[in-house]
Amino acid sequence: MSQPRAARLTGPEVRIDVSALQHNLAVARRHAPGSKQLAVIKADAYGHGLLRVAQALAEADAFAVARLSEALALREAGIRKDIVLLEGVMNQDEWRLAQQQQLQPVVHQAEQIQLLQQSAGVPLSVWLKIDTGMHRLGFQPQDAAEAARQLRECACVQGAPRLMTHLADADDRTIPHTDEQCARFDQAVAALDGEQSIANSAGLLGWPATRRDWVRPGIMLYGASPFIDSSAVELDLQPVMSLQTRLIAIHEGKKGEAVGYGGRWRCPEDMRIGVAAIGYGDGYPRHAPDQTPVLVNEQRSGIIGRVSMDMIMLDLRPCPEATIGDPVLLWGRTEQGASLPVDDVAKQADTIAYELFCRLTPRLNFV
Ligand SMILES: Cc1ncc(COP(=O)(O)O)c(C=O)c1O
Repeated sequence: MSQPRAARLTGPEVRIDVSALQHNLAVARRHAPGSKQLAVIKADAYGHGLLRVAQALAEADAFAVARLSEALALREAGIRKDIVLLEGVMNQDEWRLAQQQQLQPVVHQAEQIQLLQQSAGVPLSVWLKIDTGMHRLGFQPQDAAEAARQLRECACVQGAPRLMTHLADADDRTIPHTDEQCARFDQAVAALDGEQSIANSAGLLGWPATRRDWVRPGIMLYGASPFIDSSAVELDLQPVMSLQTRLIAIHEGKKGEAVGYGGRWRCPEDMRIGVAAIGYGDGYPRHAPDQTPVLVNEQRSGIIGRVSMDMIMLDLRPCPEATIGDPVLLWGRTEQGASLPVDDVAKQADTIAYELFCRLTPRLNFV
């Protein structure tokens, strides 16, 4: 008797290419061979799946997450690598959990030093964050030495704190802000020992002076470009996520007919219109404008009309052969190898790849 076949369900699928992830980490290492790689896997590894990515990045030297809950999920899954908590801990309960799980909190404000001064128990390595121009988290450069001294005196802190800052504008290689941030950092830490870390992906790839003891690649690991003026292909990055769905209907639009909610698109001529099963309920951006690119059967086409919760409409004029059931790629790579860079979609939809990745919803089927 033949085995029952697994049901093929219609709907969008996300494929994650683990070898592309590993390739991109190798690119990061090639650019910063003298640095340790602190792979940034916060926000569910930028929407790619925290555990899947952590397991695939066995070659990373440590992981960074934003929140304690993310670090606990990693430990629960048996990940033993060092984990940095980029937002640090905010109370004694969180500090105790950090101790139990051997995490490395970032300390970015005086209240956190006070917390550690009142704490005992297993000493942990901590990272001291200095605000050199992002103006989000961190001690002012002139206060860094005193903060480092206080941390060294805490019984629950192990050794010299590592020293870090975060770059605000490294994606734009034409402005001097990154050099200024580096100079402020160097001045702030001149008299301090402790390993250093400045670079995010853009720093690592584009600003050699930011490659210190540790680099902190995020977006580049997932195969998107951190720069406004270079593509991922130019940087030898491979797309990790591919988002694909299928055509579920095709109809003939008549010249002048309005398509979708609000009638944003009017057919300029008689034309075939495709309907694909993906919408903002899956995380596809509702504000994507007409002609945001997609690949229908490897052929570049564009969306028309407003994105609905579960569907988008497509201009099938560039792909006259398309039939119901054909694959529609929203970004990434088709199984045959045709690619649609997520950065192209992000640019068209007036956002960034980071947001497109992170907004995907649990309704999607990860395969
Ligand atoms: C402190 C810190 N370091 C590194 C990164 C990684 O940045 P990117 O994804 O641009 O490489 C982030 C991400 O926002 C971050 O917050």
